[in-house]
Amino acid sequence: MKKGKTLSLAIIATSFGLAGLGLGSPASADVNPPLAALGPPPIPLDNKQTPEKIELGKLLFFDTRIGGDASVSCADCHAQKQGWGFNDPLSRGYPGVVHWRNSQTVVNSAYLGKLFWAGSSGSLEKQAPSAALGAISGNGERDMIEARLAFIPEYVKRFNEVFGDDWPKVNNAWKAIAAFERTMIHNNTPFDKYMRGDKDALTKQQKRGLKLFQGKARCVECHNGPLLSDQKYYNLGVPRAEEWLDNGMAQVTFRYEQYAKGVTEEMYRKIKDDAGLYYRTKQKSDLGKFRTAPLRYTAYTAPFMHNGSFFDFDEIVEFYNAGGGSNEFTDGTMAKNKAKLLKPLKLGDKEKEDLIAFLESLSGEEIKIPTPKLPPYAPLPAVANTN
Ligand code: HEC
Ligand code: HEC
Repeated sequence: MKKGKTLSLAIIATSFGLAGLGLGSPASADVNPPLAALGPPPIPLDNKQTPEKIELGKLLFFDTRIGGDASVSCADCHAQKQGWGFNDPLSRGYPGVVHWRNSQTVVNSAYLGKLFWAGSSGSLEKQAPSAALGAISGNGERDMIEARLAFIPEYVKRFNEVFGDDWPKVNNAWKAIAAFERTMIHNNTPFDKYMRGDKDALTKQQKRGLKLFQGKARCVECHNGPLLSDQKYYNLGVPRAEEWLDNGMAQVTFRYEQYAKGVTEEMYRKIKDDAGLYYRTKQKSDLGKFRTAPLRYTAYTAPFMHNGSFFDFDEIVEFYNAGGGSNEFTDGTMAKNKAKLLKPLKLGDKEKEDLIAFLESLSGEEIKIPTPKLPPYAPLPAVANTN
């Protein structure tokens, strides 16, 4: 995200006395970017938004035919009624597997510099194929997807109009999906309205919660800036997913992922927790680290955390109040990385309620999009004529 460009700095500076914290220039290393209302998302120069492209992307997002056996669409794991994510702690997977992580909401993914819990994808255009083709999610195959699209006349027409393709090109499918996702934005919450100057947008209790969020509870140390995420990586000691203990299928995927991500033999055999950022860097200091989650739309996206360990804001606040988790099950290496910022907070019951009320102000109206009617297959005239 282009931080400097989207911050509405002036308003916050005046409302919270944060003036003088290097506002106007990018935040220096030891100063957190201030909380702020969220502006429009950045749009990449090589994938401009057009209404036709967005419409095509929407159809593809809901279309199961871009997955392997044509039974799973993006919308099946990013479902409207489940906060545009998936309600099980660990997401459903491609038929025959359980996913190993919680499904994130696609809402506001347009703002993120790095996607996925451990930031393994750099853009929505790159993320879409990894979802559609990845073995535990869409399990699709490029040539097959392209062939299918070519036998859906409505898509042939739309790809031609939007991208000038003679035949639908699968790489343009990812672009269209990304364009659609850039419309799934949630930046007019009570919190945003408050930050834009509407002093009545938050209740008294929520204002107390905001103060705690920035003060005693120290959430703002990591959940800062307009996204309420510094997009850095921390190990919070999140407890192991219960499903990991109960469900053989979840363990199968977990082992598969260790193998696919190339961990050491010893780790492959012993590890029982998701090593997060470590898979990308192979640095022990990154074991168990995950991207600070942005907090907008969270009223709709439980369960929370990379493995869905917490079901509501009460559990979240209790977790932080206790100083985070312990990682007691692991061999000790993961626990050593626990974020130093986490300490018992000593919040009283009323303070906990205030903080929860504030968290609720980060979600506004639910984003509702009617499920589109998908175009049917048809034999192409030219092909039919050759028979
Ligand atoms: C089988 C379930 C499944 C399917 C199908 C699926 N996803 Fe996901 N999605 C997930 C899970 C689980 C994650 C988190 C994975 C991780 O971090 O390793 C995720 C993460 C994402 C993210 C990252 C959000 C963030 O905050 O970083 C985006 C964007 C996304 N998916 C979009 C899509 C699109 C587009 C499609 C269709 C092409 C799709 N997904 C298909 C389960 C799925
Ligand atoms: C040390 C940095 C840090 C601090 C301090 C911190 N968080 Fe977090 N927060 C994170 C990270 C990292 C995640 C994702 C962790 C994971 O998935 O394992 C997260 C996840 C969350 C989530 C889950 C969101 C989701 O979509 O799953 C909520 C809610 C949350 N934090 C609220 C808070 C609150 C409230 C506070 C203050 C009491 C707080 N956080 C303090 C780093 C922090």
